[in-house]
Amino acid sequence: MNAVEIKPGIYWVGAIDWAIRDFHGYITPDGTTYNNYLVMDEEITLIDTVKLDFAETTIKNISNITDPSAIKNIIINHIENDHVTSLGRIMELTPDATIYITEKGRKGLERFFDISSWNISTVKTGDTLNIGKRNLLFIETAMLHWPDSMMTYIKEDRILVSQDGFGQHLASASRFDDEFIESESEHKLDEAVIDYYANILMPFGNLIKSRIGEIQDLGIEIEIIAPDHGIIWRKNTAGIIKRYLDMANGAADMRVAIIYDTMWQSTGIMTTPLVQGIRDEGVDCSVIKLRATPASVAIKEFWRSRGVLIGTPTLNNKMFPSVAGFLHQLAGLRPKNRIAGAFGSYGWGGGAVKEAYESLKAMKLEVFEPGVESLYRPSPEDEGRCYDFGRAFAREVKEYHSRFKQ
Ligand SMILES: Cc1cc2nc3c(=O)[nH]c(=O)nc-3n(C[C@H](O)[C@H](O)[C@H](O)COP(=O)(O)O)c2cc1C
Ligand SMILES: [Fe+2]
Ligand SMILES: [Fe+2]
Repeated sequence: MNAVEIKPGIYWVGAIDWAIRDFHGYITPDGTTYNNYLVMDEEITLIDTVKLDFAETTIKNISNITDPSAIKNIIINHIENDHVTSLGRIMELTPDATIYITEKGRKGLERFFDISSWNISTVKTGDTLNIGKRNLLFIETAMLHWPDSMMTYIKEDRILVSQDGFGQHLASASRFDDEFIESESEHKLDEAVIDYYANILMPFGNLIKSRIGEIQDLGIEIEIIAPDHGIIWRKNTAGIIKRYLDMANGAADMRVAIIYDTMWQSTGIMTTPLVQGIRDEGVDCSVIKLRATPASVAIKEFWRSRGVLIGTPTLNNKMFPSVAGFLHQLAGLRPKNRIAGAFGSYGWGGGAVKEAYESLKAMKLEVFEPGVESLYRPSPEDEGRCYDFGRAFAREVKEYHSRFKQ
């Protein structure tokens, strides 16, 4: 796709990665984009670069508008590989350009490139850069989601280049939210937002609230939010900010995610009466078998649901490895505001359900105990206990959910 003008003189010059399905372990069924932006002013300025595989794509897009050697300033908002690795190639074309980056970003950049001959200017929150008719304002967003991260605000055009924040892994011919909703759906866009937030930003809810607060305190008006992945927000910028604040405040649907695995299907059989019990309390639920589902999808299902039930058979006194792996990944995401329980089948000493509870408690999630267990294959009585447990858990989910203002 060629360069796309997002406001007079400001162009998207990024790349659409239609084929990527595994983005550092995060499954991307819809691909992604690497967005970067060219500002045509007295000093031509490039904001961000793209993944190395797409260096020639962005150079071609830039060349549609101007000779890349005319670029005077390059803003590097984030030094993760997907945004910085083609910087070396671009610097070959415009070696005298000045790079604007945070101090932490500069330190990291040294690990990617020999920067000894590059002009680098480090910036902090509140620093501005005049590029002619326009002024750029830099806003550090450390740990959203790396220590080096920042955002760049183009004052005169009221565009916030928000880096990974507000992004989504979606490859699409649409560049803007309204176009995407027209050609696909609002639901698909929202799912991609939740998916990205759950897998990348879940640990940083409190920081998200304070950074959004700081941006609002700066009194800047935001007409367009231009992230480095997915579609650009121009129709509903207020909506996406609210969505982020809601998620940071613990928003979830009143539903249950049953996330489990099984060797011989006994734990799997237990999910049927659990679903029935949950449904009979009027609560929705989904069932995810871990080895049949990418971990990032399970994380997303966890995040959209107020309640989670973890199912695991006992294997050698321990949780089944895929379940342990899932809980390990979840712990790193520091989940909050969710209620959890556990269930599973065992053959003799058991231990997996207990271990699952230990893991959920270590995450400081609200837990509903005791869990429900079955010796080998569930008997009709076991199925009855699963049904009752499902109902009781769903009632707890409703009660717990009512504590959150939606
Ligand atoms: C390799 C292997 C190791 C097992 N280790 C244990 C164990 O240490 N303690 C236990 O209570 N059951 C153990 N079991 C029994 C299973 O937990 C039991 O068969 C259970 O019903 C399996 O549930 P599933 O059908 O959901 O996989 C083991 C089973 C297998 C196949
Ligand atoms: Fe990133
Ligand atoms: Fe990224």
